[in-house]
Amino acid sequence: MTPVLIDTDPGIDDALALLLAWSSPEIRVEAITTVAGNVRVEAAGTNVVRLLALRRPTPRPLVAAGAAGPLARALTTATRYHGEDGLGDLADWPVVEPVPTSPDAASVIVDAARRHGRELTLVALGPLTNVALALKQDAAVVGRVGRVVVMGGAVDVPGNVTPAAEFNMHVDPEAAHRVLAAGLPLELVPLDATRQAVLPRAGMRAALGRSPGPLASRIQAFSERGFRIAHAEGEQGMALHDPLAVAVTLDPSLAKWETVRLAVGPDGETLRASGAPNCRVAKAVDADRFIRLFLDRLCPTSRPGASS
Ligand code: RIB
Ligand code: CA
Repeated sequence: MTPVLIDTDPGIDDALALLLAWSSPEIRVEAITTVAGNVRVEAAGTNVVRLLALRRPTPRPLVAAGAAGPLARALTTATRYHGEDGLGDLADWPVVEPVPTSPDAASVIVDAARRHGRELTLVALGPLTNVALALKQDAAVVGRVGRVVVMGGAVDVPGNVTPAAEFNMHVDPEAAHRVLAAGLPLELVPLDATRQAVLPRAGMRAALGRSPGPLASRIQAFSERGFRIAHAEGEQGMALHDPLAVAVTLDPSLAKWETVRLAVGPDGETLRASGAPNCRVAKAVDADRFIRLFLDRLCPTSRPGASS
């Protein structure tokens, strides 16, 4: 089992990614760190704790709060898409305790890298602020990790925030620049790949209908906003950006990869650049195999101690 640390800004697709990770025997989610992005960092923490209470994964991961905003600019959130609370604004979530602010996310990332070294995979599903702060704290230790899988960027396709910039990179371009410059074993999962990973509402409903219960009902309820907006915008379904990043962490063969050098533009554009490669980028995706994996694991029918 590969130890994994997930940095996240839940977020509807982040929530689906966490549920996939917690149902995947290939990895052990040691820690979850929250970052401001889709929502403010306090709301991100609340959503992680809500999902932990809902799913009750074992082992229960450490949860640490991270950056409340980007390194050098004001925070841009995506509450229009994810809802004010980040999970579709459902009325009936149980009240949860806030995430402690100590230890902070950057320290938890450095500590995990120190303990696990090349065994550790870092998975970043939001803006790269916490990863950049961890590098600032101890780049040599963070550089020991085996893999850094990042959902972000738009290399040969249009952005989703500006014509060229993807949201995670757009929120904190300075952090993205530092992460790309740090010589990490970086695996980028950009919109080029994630827009191939589209799940229609009917597919989600059919899968959840196979394992009825509180977990399936809650997944259907919080993901509905994402499907509603996607279908209203004429899409075939919800692009599973963050779940695809988790899936290629489990099985890199789900994508075809291109080794490239990328630079980050002032608005978070991810631009091909000349010089030594600094990452590999997921391009073609085996979408059918990914969707099957995702739906098979999202809501497993029998799980000891589960809430379903
Ligand atoms: O552009 C998509 C990314 O931005 C996803 O990680 C989504 O959750 C948002 O954070
Ligand atoms: Ca995210």
